[in-house]
Amino acid sequence: MRVYLDNAATSFPKPPSVYDAVDFYQRHVGVAIGRGSYRQSLDVQRIVDQCRQQAARLLGAENPDRIVFTFSGTDGLNMVLLGICRPSDHVVTSVLEHNSVLRCLREMQERRGIEITTVAPRADGRIEPADVRRALRPSTRLVAILHASNVTGVVQPIAEIGELAQRNGSFMMTDAAQTAGHLPIDVSRLPIDIVVCPGHKGLLGPLGTGIVYVRTGIEEHVNCFRLGGTGTSSEDDHHPCQMPERFEAGNHNVPGLVGLEAALAFLELKTIQAIHDHEAGLTRILVEGLRNLSTVSVYGHDAAAPHVGVVSFNVKGFNAHEVASLLDDSFGIQSRAGLHCAAGAHRSLGTFDCGGTIRFSVGPFTTDSEIEKAITSVAELT
Ligand SMILES: Cc1ncc(COP(=O)(O)O)c(C=O)c1O
Repeated sequence: MRVYLDNAATSFPKPPSVYDAVDFYQRHVGVAIGRGSYRQSLDVQRIVDQCRQQAARLLGAENPDRIVFTFSGTDGLNMVLLGICRPSDHVVTSVLEHNSVLRCLREMQERRGIEITTVAPRADGRIEPADVRRALRPSTRLVAILHASNVTGVVQPIAEIGELAQRNGSFMMTDAAQTAGHLPIDVSRLPIDIVVCPGHKGLLGPLGTGIVYVRTGIEEHVNCFRLGGTGTSSEDDHHPCQMPERFEAGNHNVPGLVGLEAALAFLELKTIQAIHDHEAGLTRILVEGLRNLSTVSVYGHDAAAPHVGVVSFNVKGFNAHEVASLLDDSFGIQSRAGLHCAAGAHRSLGTFDCGGTIRFSVGPFTTDSEIEKAITSVAELT
C-alpha cells in the first residue's frame, strides 16, 4: 500500500469532487471561456468566476478581481518578480526562498542590475524582523519573504516583516506555497501586497493551477510580460490594464480551474483551521516518533516557532536519496530527498554538504496509521 508523504510537492489525493469536476468538464464540456457566446461557454465561465470568488473569500481579498490565475506557484512568482523590479532597484529576501524566487532575482541582478540583500534565519529557523529592518534601504522596492519554509516547515513572521516593508515604502510579497490551504491567511488583516499560491498543493486543485493575490493599486507597479488575447477589447492592440485580465493572457487552464473550484469549495466547507489542526496533530506524532529513533536527526522542529506539516530529517550513516529509495522500495513510503530547490535553507541547516534531507509532508487526507507506518519503516532502516 502506498503512503504518500510528498504533499509539499503537490497534494494527493485530492477531494473526490475535484476528480469529478475535471472528468465531467473534459468528457462533456471541453470549451474555452471568455470567447464563446454559446451557453456552455458561459456556464463554464460562471464556474471559473466562482473559483475566483472562492479564492478571494479564502484569502480575505477585497474583491475577486484581485485574484489572478496562474499555471503554478513558479509562474505566479515569475509574474510578480519579473514584473515589479526595475533596473537598479533593491530587493530584500531570505536564504530560505525557493529557486522560483531566487533564480528570478539572480536573473534580474545580472540583466537589470538590481541589488539583493539576503537575510538568514536565526537558530529557530525564523527570519528575525529586526534583521529585515537593518537590510532595508530607501531604494528597497520589494521585500520577498516566504510564508513557510519548504524544508523545515517553519512559519515566518510575515505580518511584522510586512509592516516594516510598508513603513519603508517597499512592496511586500510572500510566497505562500507551503501555507495556502494549510494555515488561514487573511490579507484584510495582513500588511502584505502580494500573496503567491500554487493551486495544486494545499489548495488541493490539479497541477497546472495557481493564484496570485494583488492588493488594489499594486498592479500598476507590476509590468506584465505575458500579453495576448483576453476575449475583451479585441479592437485594441494594447493589452488591457484592468484586473485580472492585465495578467491573464491567452486561454485559461479551464480543466484545472474547474478542479480548483471544487477544491476551494471543499476547503471552505471543511475549513482551513480544521485541516491545520489535523495536520498539526499528525506532525507532532511524526516529529516525536522520528526523534525517538537514536540515529535520526530532525531539523527545524526544536523551537517554539510555528510550523506547517513539513518535516526534514536524516538517518546517520545513510545518504538522504538512499533512505528515500529504501522507504519507497521496501515500504511504499513516498517522500522527497535532496535540496528541495532551496539550497540556502540547507546551507543554513548544515545539510547542504551531505546532499540535503529526506522530507515527509502531510496533507488533509494523511492518516494516523500512515504516520505510524512511516515511523516504523524508518525505524526498521536504522
Ligand atoms: C516554497 C515554494 N515556493 C515555490 C514553489 C513552486 O511552486 P510550483 O511547484 O507550483 O511551481 C514551491 C514548490 O515546491 C515551494 O515549496
